[in-house]
Amino acid sequence: MAYQDSGLHVLLTGANGFVASHILSILLARGYAVTATVRSKEKVADILKTHPSWEGKIEFAIVADFTSAKPFDELFINSKAPFTYIIHTASPVNFRVEDIQTEMIEPAVRGEAMSIDAMTTEILKSAHHYGGATLKRFVLLGSAVSVLNSFEDITREGSPYTEKNWNPVTAEEAIARKDAVLGYNVSKTRAESAAWEFIKSESPCFDLAVINPDVITGPMIHPISGPKSINETNHFAIASFIDGTHSQVEGVTFPFYHFVDVRDVARSHVDTLTNTSAGGQRILLISGVISPQLVVNIIRKNFPALRARVPEGNPSQTLPPGVHPTGWDTRLSLDILSKGTKEGSWEYISLEDSVTDAVRSMIEAKVI
Ligand SMILES: NC(=O)c1ccc[n+]([C@@H]2O[C@H](COP(=O)([O-])OP(=O)(O)OC[C@H]3O[C@@H](n4cnc5c(N)ncnc54)[C@H](OP(=O)(O)O)[C@@H]3O)[C@@H](O)[C@H]2O)c1
Repeated sequence: MAYQDSGLHVLLTGANGFVASHILSILLARGYAVTATVRSKEKVADILKTHPSWEGKIEFAIVADFTSAKPFDELFINSKAPFTYIIHTASPVNFRVEDIQTEMIEPAVRGEAMSIDAMTTEILKSAHHYGGATLKRFVLLGSAVSVLNSFEDITREGSPYTEKNWNPVTAEEAIARKDAVLGYNVSKTRAESAAWEFIKSESPCFDLAVINPDVITGPMIHPISGPKSINETNHFAIASFIDGTHSQVEGVTFPFYHFVDVRDVARSHVDTLTNTSAGGQRILLISGVISPQLVVNIIRKNFPALRARVPEGNPSQTLPPGVHPTGWDTRLSLDILSKGTKEGSWEYISLEDSVTDAVRSMIEAKVI
């Protein structure tokens, strides 16, 4: 059965991240043996300080920089037991970079470093050469930005996106416009495309599933040391309306207008390991619409004590004037996701629960 998990060995990359921390939590709860990569010993200590009950349950591997030359072979060679599955989440998520070309799209020009698509190909290559016959599936945390069109006319709702769509954005366009969000879109599109190319050309003994979430919000369980530890998307979509970044809603726009809760993203990754319907698929994760006004409405309703700090805007004007985002037809993905669950059905966490639980986690961590 797709949902039965036990004693199998998972390699999880970027384990201290916002999303990966939730994935790690579910993997451990379902009894998987986990090797988790992080960038330093200090980050291992941070994880165990945040989650003391995880002590002794995780094998850690330190990889300081995934974009440095070939760090992956050693992961497989040094592993005490072969991997059954890989979940690859590590990837820079930073919409504030200064130099799109050298920091985001082509770090290769900095010398030994490689681009995100080259990094994805390298880990797949190592998995192919050293993973052995026990390795069954590689699950890549992709993004809806490799599906949607970065140049969509936001003033008119177009035909809904499906699993068949690919973002036409190019590196040249991102660099020419000096636009970090476009740069991120290029790097994620190239990384996913490189992964599918590799599977096609090398036919490894494992298969590939790519999970493509839109903006991810929700509670934070990763190590937090101050307001800067709020992950990029929870910051721009939620915390920026509480921490004084935006003193009004009018004029604030989002780069994307659909969201999914981090707990649904994590659950989908772990379900996908054993879901026989998921191999070779792109799985879209879209819960519903998110907008600046919807977010402030939820914060003001559920946290009266924060009202003085959160702009009111115009509560009934849910989308910014003139914004009509294109929707998503996710029927195929929903069918796959359902088959990966015990219940045989997939339910998304609502925006209200996602925002409320995110804000609660920020208050508990004293970062807002
Ligand atoms: N957040 C979203 O809305 C969203 C939406 C769609 C897809 N995604 C994808 O989800 C994944 C995780 O995102 P997240 O929001 O959880 O971000 P995050 O909290 O910033 O986590 C990113 C992880 O990647 C690691 N990392 C970054 N650059 C690295 C490098 N050069 N070498 C080794 N490790 C590196 C980070 O390590 P350090 O912390 O040590 O730097 C961290 O563990 C990314 O692939 C992202 O593209 C995110």
